[in-house]
Amino acid sequence: MNEGERVVFPPGWYVVADAAEIPRDRPVKLRRFGVDIVVFRRDDGSVAALDDRCKHRGASLSLGRLSNNCVACPFHGFEFAGDGECKRLPVLGPDAKIPKALHARAYEIREKDQWIWLWWGAVPEALPEIPRFEHLHTGRHRAHTFAREWDASFARVIENQLDPFHLPFVHKTTIGRNMPEAMTVNHVESDDEIIAWPGAERTDPREGFYIAFRWANLWENRIAERFSIVAAFAPIDATRTRTYLRTYQAFVTLPVLGWIVDRLMVFSNKAVFNQDERVVVSQPQLPLIAEDEVLVKADGAIIAYRKMFARWLRGPSQRATDQAAE
Ligand code: FES
Ligand SMILES: [Fe+2]
Repeated sequence: MNEGERVVFPPGWYVVADAAEIPRDRPVKLRRFGVDIVVFRRDDGSVAALDDRCKHRGASLSLGRLSNNCVACPFHGFEFAGDGECKRLPVLGPDAKIPKALHARAYEIREKDQWIWLWWGAVPEALPEIPRFEHLHTGRHRAHTFAREWDASFARVIENQLDPFHLPFVHKTTIGRNMPEAMTVNHVESDDEIIAWPGAERTDPREGFYIAFRWANLWENRIAERFSIVAAFAPIDATRTRTYLRTYQAFVTLPVLGWIVDRLMVFSNKAVFNQDERVVVSQPQLPLIAEDEVLVKADGAIIAYRKMFARWLRGPSQRATDQAAE
């Protein structure tokens, strides 16, 4: 990135971590959207997120500890609640008058479906619902997650997952083996969802194999009724992304066998993912949405993503106007 160039991430609910990455007994530092954020759990287990920079003299709160339902700074022990309020200033004793300016910046953060979701951007009066692929949450599926970091922007990683026609090339030795090079790619799109599939048109886009994307960073490849791969693309900064890959399977759910199958799938998913990494990091990463590419008909889902990105960047009122005009 050029010195001084600011990348703007459009607003939305973003998966920023797997729930298992946030323990109950200590704060955790997450670098997301180019910002250091401290995430911690309150006594009741709910998650909270603040800027990871103490308002007193700038130490990293994530180096501190949990105390009195707050995160305590490692430097002088000032304690900050989940809403950012400074609750305790030990050096001035119990009757300390706490300056308002010590209030830390807090983020909207939630836990749902074993993901940690952070609302990025200006907070609207009513926050949209957190995205979810409902059919994976009926209690039938086992889920297993692993994560990888790439030197690529989150938009590039998402676009890669909206493109089925790289399979016979990038994945010639794995999932793209014997796949025809020529294919039709169909898709349907709405304000916050794109569903794409290779092959003939369908009346129900969800009949058979498909790829679904939900704004801002959640994706599913439904391979079979009982097997889906879900990915969440967490932007570390403008040109680095931590991708969480989670398999949901309902065909081997017995405890030990299921455990083995989950791990075998990680093994094969990693091989496929490495093949993707090699080409995706070779693309220019900025701007987040490329402006000088020559897209073809089969890139329809990528074009839909770029439109969606632009709408969310412009904000909710503009989105409604755009939709009415379409
Ligand atoms: S720097 Fe955090 S309490 Fe002093
Ligand atoms: Fe791929």
